[in-house]
Parts: sequence; structure tokens; C-alpha cells
Amino acid sequence: MKRVIFNQKGGVGKSTIAVNLASIAAHQGKKTLLIDMDPQCNSSRYLLGEAAKQIAPTLANYFEQTLNFVIYPKPASSYVHATRFENLSVIPSHPEIGELQSKLESRHKIYKLRDALKELAKDYDEIILDTPPAYNFFTQSALIAADCCLIPFDCDDFSRQALYTLMNNVGEIKADHNPALTIEGIVVNQFQPRASLPQRMVNELIAEGLPVLDSKLSSSIRIRESHEQCLPMIHLDARHKLSQEFLALYQELQPV
Ligand SMILES: Nc1ncnc2c1ncn2[C@@H]1O[C@H](COP(=O)(O)OP(=O)(O)O)[C@@H](O)[C@H]1O
Ligand SMILES: [Mg+2]
Repeated sequence: MKRVIFNQKGGVGKSTIAVNLASIAAHQGKKTLLIDMDPQCNSSRYLLGEAAKQIAPTLANYFEQTLNFVIYPKPASSYVHATRFENLSVIPSHPEIGELQSKLESRHKIYKLRDALKELAKDYDEIILDTPPAYNFFTQSALIAADCCLIPFDCDDFSRQALYTLMNNVGEIKADHNPALTIEGIVVNQFQPRASLPQRMVNELIAEGLPVLDSKLSSSIRIRESHEQCLPMIHLDARHKLSQEFLALYQELQPV
């Protein structure tokens, strides 16, 4: 299963959800790989701590290699690093990945990630792709390479505008490049069940036919601690409400 976490809006919880779902999968015994495609490297840091700054090779090196013809390219698995969590590995990002973008685009390397994932899928039960907050070469590559797409959403009105653009973008990738791509659903993050506006917005989205998932994620300051300590919620505090909500989300996403 190759899942991309995507929303072109920043700050909606992509990296938080990517790392926490990956951690739950690994904790449940699935061989799991997280691929960080964002030059901000947030999920690499969340999983690897300070070590993320110096680690090599990274996803940037993988893409670099595709620009230089080599007879025997290194396998995609050589960019994978173990984390301190059992069953959980990562291909970290690097700030330089952003600088490679225009070259990769002009040289039509949009299918290279799909090739890498095809190879890696033999070794992993679950691959989770964390994406940058943009609809660009990297997110398009990820949507082309993935089996399914999970969309984090926060209940503000700007984010709602972006949601329609996003659904169109994903639909276009599906139609043109990846007919098997499915949208798993929209997961509402930082949901406030007691406030009326978020609930109304969710009801409206559902009425419009958008695939809003039952699982919702609460807002909690424990997430900040989880980021600071580089400890996904399941390891920081498994009984916490938000940990249980991540678990419920993970279960809701399992094929029946
Ligand atoms: N459920 C949550 N409760 C509280 N804070 C959250 C929650 N989810 C995300 N955040 C905070 O929101 C910010 C953006 O989250 P992040 O996962 O980095 O979003 P993105 O990857 O979409 O930019 C981070 O500072 C994170 O700590
Ligand atoms: Mg992020």
C-alpha cells in the first residue's frame, strides 16, 4: 500500500499525520517506510531528530542521480535509513530538493518516483509519502506513484476553497497518469466538536458529496511535545485521546 498525504495548503497536519500513521503501522508490525518529499524536512526531523540535518543520502540524492546518466544506478533501497522505532524506516528529505525541481521538470523525470516505489514496495507493507505544501513536481510525482491519497483538512474557509482546487488536481492526475489512484478521504484535523462552525462546515462538505472520513483528529498541545521530543504520539502517550484518534483513523483506512 502506497499512500500519499496531500493538501497544497501548509499547516493542515500533513507531516503530523504522515508520521503518526506510519508509526502506528510500524507498531502493529507492518514494515513501514516514510518518504519525506518536503524541502522543509519536517517529518524527517520528527522521526530522526537532530540527526536529520546531517543524514545522507537523502531523497535529493535519489533525484540527482536521475539527472546524471549512470550505467548502474544505486537501488532505491540505498536511500533508506532505519529509525529508532522498530519496523519504521525513512527516506529523508533535504533542503536542496527544492533547487532540483526545475531541472527535474524540464528533463521529464515525473515517473522516477513511481519507478522507485515499485522497487521499494517489494520490501514494505506500507509506504507513506509526506508532501510539500504546493501542487508541484514533487506532489505530482507522489500522486502518480501512489495507490491512494489521504487529504488532511482544517476547518477554515481558505482551506475549503483550496479543497475544491485540490480535488480537481487529484482528479486530473488520476485521469492522465494514474487511473488506479483512489481518494481515501478527507480527514478533519484540529476538529473542535463543541464549536458550531466546524461541524456546520463538515456537514456541508458531506452534503456536497465530499468523502469526509468519520475519524476526526482533535487539537492537542501534546502534539507540540511529540514534535519537540521527536516521539510520535503512540510512543509519547499511547492512551492520549489524540493517539486513540490516530489509531481509529488508521483502522478506518484499512481495506475491508
Ligand atoms: N491535531 C493537532 N493538534 C494541535 N496541533 C496540531 C495538530 N496537528 C498539527 N498541529 C500543528 O500544526 C502545525 C502544522 O502541522 P504540520 O503537520 O506541520 O502541517 P503540514 O505538514 O500540513 O504543513 C504544527 O505546528 C503542528 O504541531
Ligand atoms: Mg509538512
